[in-house]
Amino acid sequence: MEKKVKETTKQKTKSKPQFEPRIVVFACNWCSYPAADAAGINRLQYPANVRIIRVMCMGRVDPGFVLKALVMGADGVLVSGCHFEDCHYSFGARKAAEQYKKLEKIVHMLGLEKERIRQEFISAAEFPKFAKVVREMVEQIKKLGPSPLERGALYKDQKLESEIIEEVAPVTP
Ligand code: FES
Repeated sequence: MEKKVKETTKQKTKSKPQFEPRIVVFACNWCSYPAADAAGINRLQYPANVRIIRVMCMGRVDPGFVLKALVMGADGVLVSGCHFEDCHYSFGARKAAEQYKKLEKIVHMLGLEKERIRQEFISAAEFPKFAKVVREMVEQIKKLGPSPLERGALYKDQKLESEIIEEVAPVTP
């Protein structure tokens, strides 16, 4: 009997799937997106946990976008774009850096770990850096575990979500 219980426990332990984080990457069309592409072309491996969303400029990534990704089930979000001096829209990358500060506040207000979000400036030539950042982020979030945000949690209270966004990071047209 005891043997049977041990075997069942073993089987359960074996069959438990390892947590694989879902990470959304907002990548600028002009630098980080090509960096992701070049990493693949150069056979630099990085985990397949990422879903890349191409944006024209990192400055376009409103904190609300990141929040939405998190409440829709992402365990982490990476916002990646050009270095300040390379941004094709002059102030986009700088604006993104300012927005990121607001984003950190939102994440704190939601009670999430700050390591669930990350901002990086990665040029097209820095594709090894892109692969490294993704590897680091996947490892980091594996340690944290799944996001404590219940999928769609904030949407149960639309008021709460809109209040947070409006207070910390109003969406600009
Ligand atoms: S164009 Fe890449 S961050 Fe602005």
